[in-house]
Amino acid sequence: MGFDIKNLVAARFGTNYELHEQYLNRTLVKVLHTIGFAKCYKRAEGCYLYDGEGNEYLDFLSGYGVYGIGRNHPVLKQAIRDVLDMDLSNMVQMDCALLSGLLGEAVAKAAGADRDSCFFGNSGTEVNEAAIKFARAATGRNGMLSLKGSYHGLSYGSLTLTQNNNFQDGFGELLPGVEYVAMGDLVALEEKLRTRRIAGFIVEPVQGKGVHFPGVGGVAEDYYVKAQALCRQYGTLFICDEVQCGLGRAGKMFAFEHWGLDPDIVTMAKTLSGGYVPVGAIVTRRPIYQGVFSNMKRCVVHSSTFGRNNLAMACGLATLHVLQEEKLVERSAERGRQLMDAIRGLAKKHDMIKEVRGLGCMIAIEFQRPSNLLLRAAWKIFDNVDKGLFPEMIVHGLMDKHRVLTQVAGHNMDVIKILPPYTIGDREIERFVSALDSVLEECRSPLGPMWAFGANLAKHALAAKKTA
Ligand SMILES: Cc1ncc(COP(=O)(O)O)c(C=O)c1O
Repeated sequence: MGFDIKNLVAARFGTNYELHEQYLNRTLVKVLHTIGFAKCYKRAEGCYLYDGEGNEYLDFLSGYGVYGIGRNHPVLKQAIRDVLDMDLSNMVQMDCALLSGLLGEAVAKAAGADRDSCFFGNSGTEVNEAAIKFARAATGRNGMLSLKGSYHGLSYGSLTLTQNNNFQDGFGELLPGVEYVAMGDLVALEEKLRTRRIAGFIVEPVQGKGVHFPGVGGVAEDYYVKAQALCRQYGTLFICDEVQCGLGRAGKMFAFEHWGLDPDIVTMAKTLSGGYVPVGAIVTRRPIYQGVFSNMKRCVVHSSTFGRNNLAMACGLATLHVLQEEKLVERSAERGRQLMDAIRGLAKKHDMIKEVRGLGCMIAIEFQRPSNLLLRAAWKIFDNVDKGLFPEMIVHGLMDKHRVLTQVAGHNMDVIKILPPYTIGDREIERFVSALDSVLEECRSPLGPMWAFGANLAKHALAAKKTA
């Protein structure tokens, strides 16, 4: 019998977790079972996922921020089908293909100013690695600087920029020459830049872990503007990692526009893929670009075999078209604001909500110890075991009782993050807010199932500490 992917999927559907237990990451399988996320999804559309029984799940996780335009968008599907139907030449390598040229043009136009030179890779981490190399080559310097609490990816260069022990520990030596400063601390920044050893200062304009950005949490609104000016003064390139917050996620085409910034290098990925074919891009100024590809011998000194493949390029082009055609960047800003206002409304009723912050459809809900004495005691016990258990309880409650997918916003913080598709409407906002209301209501009962689930998580966390 010939290969038939439809039959294969139909025949093996439901064996997902057994297969992963046997052949892939069985620790993840254990975690998914523990937190009640071990579902088998059959289909997806827009803001929703559907399991084998046809149950509908509201997806406010968006594949870690990939599905800005929603899942299985018809324009993307058609673009992919058309590329296949045309039997285009692909990855000839020793040619200049049309689709990568067109996507380069589109990305450069979107990035504005004189950022007119593009490089394509396959993921966020890969384009951040490229940003390190571009910055080093253009400046002839070795050092890199990033922000504390940042996340830039998990391959060695970007892992080193990611200032987080939870990701860095256990993998040996990292990239030399990388240093960190706290967001908002201009004195520390200038001290590092003054050495003139720093090639590039990389920031996520809106930090993914915890959703932090200037203008909230005591960080001055003009921090990035001043940081960028200091970079210019000392010859350091100012790099914006827009892998997560870019392409409409934070309510602007690029999040750096919120502060009127003019970065030397911008990296992007996630949303650009349309949720179909991995793609990452760098856009920068020509002189910086030519610092890498400086002569004919160095014309492919940085490249990646799959980097400009036609399907990825078509997805990028189709996604930029959809963002513009459906006014999704504007919609992300409006719907995000509406969602945040509605969640803030819940804070009047639930004193566990400390703060709701975000830009566009990139939103954090931070929790705090409740005023009720019994609940405070339970919170304290959990906090001592593992800061971050309470948001796990909320994420579990949202999934278990309401079929809403969310995520904790990072390690050691009492924050959940929501990254809905920009296509959400009133129905999705109401469903999320009412689910959160009901989960927080249940948390009022210290002997109820929510805290019992939390106790189970605490048991696992203690066991993990012992084996660490
Ligand atoms: C800001 C940021 N940079 C880089 C990355 C890494 O991207 P990828 O997972 O595609 O390597 C991520 C992923 O979450 C991210 O949020």
